[in-house]
Amino acid sequence: MPASAQAHGRRTAQGDSSGENSREVTFDFTGRRVIITGAAGGIGRELAKLFRQAGADLALADLSVDALDAAVSALPQGSGTVLTVPYNGADPESAQHLVDVVTERFGGIDVLVPAAGIYPRRAVAEMSDEEWRQVMSINLDGVFTLVRRALPSLGDRAAIVLFASVAGHRGSRLHAHYAASKAGIIALTRSLALELGPEVRVNAVSPGTIMTPMVGDLVKDRGEAMLRDTPLRRNGEPMEVARAVAFLASDAASFITGETLHVNGGLFMAG
Ligand SMILES: NC(=O)c1ccc[n+]([C@@H]2O[C@H](COP(=O)([O-])OP(=O)(O)OC[C@H]3O[C@@H](n4cnc5c(N)ncnc54)[C@H](O)[C@@H]3O)[C@@H](O)[C@H]2O)c1
Repeated sequence: MPASAQAHGRRTAQGDSSGENSREVTFDFTGRRVIITGAAGGIGRELAKLFRQAGADLALADLSVDALDAAVSALPQGSGTVLTVPYNGADPESAQHLVDVVTERFGGIDVLVPAAGIYPRRAVAEMSDEEWRQVMSINLDGVFTLVRRALPSLGDRAAIVLFASVAGHRGSRLHAHYAASKAGIIALTRSLALELGPEVRVNAVSPGTIMTPMVGDLVKDRGEAMLRDTPLRRNGEPMEVARAVAFLASDAASFITGETLHVNGGLFMAG
C-alpha cells in the first residue's frame, strides 16, 4: 500500500465504548510517521487509537511514562511501530530530544500533532505571573519550540495540526491565560501556513467542550448554560476531535492550509 494518508470516510455500524458519536471512521496513514504530544490525555489517547488503526508509525509523548504506558496498553492492534517518549512541553530541550529520538528511529516526521495543554482556573485579579507564564510556556511556547525543531525532519506532504480552543476565539472567564494562549495558536497556525507552504500544510482544530479530565469543573459550573448555547445540544467526545485532526492531516485535506476547524457542536456561533 502506498505511504499515503487518505480518509475513506466509511462509517461502520459498530460503536465503541464512548458511544454512538465515536463510531469508527477509517483513515489510511500506512507508513506515515506521526508525533502526538499530550498522548496520555483524553483526546491524545483517541488520537493514538485512530492513527494506530490507520497503520501509522506512532511516537507518543507526554509528561508521565506511567500514563503513556497505560495509554499504549489500551491501543488496538496495528501494523506500525509505537514509541513512547517522556516529554515536557515547557522545556525546549525536551522538544529537541523528542525530535531527535523520532528522527533517529523513524527517519523523519510526516504528521505533527502537539496536543499537550493545561487549563488552570483562576481570575486575572488572583493570577500570579508564574501561573500566566506556565500556561503560555506549555500551550503556546511549547508548540513553537517543538514545531521549529521538527522542521528539518519533516517529510513529503507533511502536515501539522495544532490545538486551538473555542476560548481562543471568544475569550474565557477565569481562564484568561488559556484563552490568550489558544488565540496565539490560531495566529501561529496561519503564520506557519504562510511560511511553510507549499511543502507543509498547517491547520488547527478548535474544540468546544469535549468530555475529558480537562473540563470536569467547567461542565459542573457552566455545563447547562453551555449546552443551551450549543446547537447540537451535547458535549463532544474525544474521538470526534481525533477524526477532525486525522482529516486535516490526511490527503483528503490536500488543499486546506492555515484553517482552524471548529469542532464544538456550533457553540462558537453563540453569544
Ligand atoms: N477537552 C476540551 O474540552 C478541550 C477544549 C478545547 C481545547 N482542548 C485542547 O485539546 C488538547 C488536549 O486536551 P484534553 O482535553 O485531552 O486534556 P487532558 O487534560 O485530558 O490531556 C492533556 C494532556 O497533556 C499532558 N500535559 C500537560 N502538561 C504537559 C507538559 N508540560 N508536557 C507534556 N504533556 C503535558 C497531560 O499529561 C495530559 O495527558 C489541549 O491542547 C487542550 O487545550 C480541549
